[in-house]
Amino acid sequence: MIFRPSDFLFPDHKARLYPETPDLPWHLEVGFGDGRFWVQQAQAEPANYLGVEISGVSLLKAEKKLQDAGLKNAILTRLHADPLIQGVVPEHGLDRIYVNFPDPWPKHEHNRLLQVPFFEMVSSRLKPDGEIWFTTDHEEYFQFALEQARQSGLFELIECAPPAAALQTKYALKWQDLGFDVYHVRFRVKAFKTIAPYQVFTEDDMPHSILVAGDSLNLSDFQKTVYRYQNRTIILLEVFQNLRHQGHVFLAHIEEEHLTQEILVQVTPREDGTTLVKTAKFGNPLITEGVKLAVRSVTEYLKDRGYQVTHTAY
Ligand SMILES: C[S@@+](CC[C@H](N)C(=O)[O-])C[C@H]1O[C@@H](n2cnc3c(N)ncnc32)[C@H](O)[C@@H]1O
Repeated sequence: MIFRPSDFLFPDHKARLYPETPDLPWHLEVGFGDGRFWVQQAQAEPANYLGVEISGVSLLKAEKKLQDAGLKNAILTRLHADPLIQGVVPEHGLDRIYVNFPDPWPKHEHNRLLQVPFFEMVSSRLKPDGEIWFTTDHEEYFQFALEQARQSGLFELIECAPPAAALQTKYALKWQDLGFDVYHVRFRVKAFKTIAPYQVFTEDDMPHSILVAGDSLNLSDFQKTVYRYQNRTIILLEVFQNLRHQGHVFLAHIEEEHLTQEILVQVTPREDGTTLVKTAKFGNPLITEGVKLAVRSVTEYLKDRGYQVTHTAY
């Protein structure tokens, strides 16, 4: 079953996500590709499954594979692994995390997933004796991950043979065909660092602002506008006219750590002469700090065009 990010609670819990099998262990796979791994591994060790991928094409391929295999207690979502694990998984919720053949980033180590901050974050989302099972063909990344786990001081390292299913993934077969070795290690939690949940707001906190218009708004000269905040960037990409309500809709691109979203921000004139700026529900965005800043950016944009702000909630 595919979940949109907004279908989850932040944090969520196993009994809500898997109401028919709440007593099974909970396993998560990062970067499941075409979904082959879980189809096999679920036979060896049944568990509730949560798969996270950034590729939309992979999401659809994997969904078909899991459906054909009749795996009902499997949830797939399209998101970067960090916000999913930090935001959706409750403290000590997971029994295991699988990472099979992650992108090795040979020239850009800083992009690698398995680094100290990742180990710190997942240490509190795994159960006390929970494990990360890491399989790769890339010896240098393998050594790098061992070193990062040691540096975190939170994991015991167990080098052993990979599970059979990890040798049958699309990338496992590709690299084995080319004659590469496969490396496997299990990182077992021995201590944890407390990491606060990724902050996602509810619909009750939908950001908005109220403005009083100057002259009627003419956006025919609109150009892409970038707003930079501490560690977030908002780009107002386009503006459209709303023919029905005589208002406008801005398309905003939001970049925050490990999460990018594109959302619509509505600018709607109201009967009392004021103008309401608020996030549209279209696309079910995750209401993050970045979404609040997108509403703030549109508000700033209008302020620069003569509007006066009378109320803000962001
Ligand atoms: C080299 S492929 C391996 C796919 C699969 N595990 C296999 O063995 O065939 C790496 C996968 O990880 C996904 N990926 C990369 N970074 C990710 C992240 N931060 N969160 C989730 N998925 C990610 C990519 O989209 C890609 O599908």
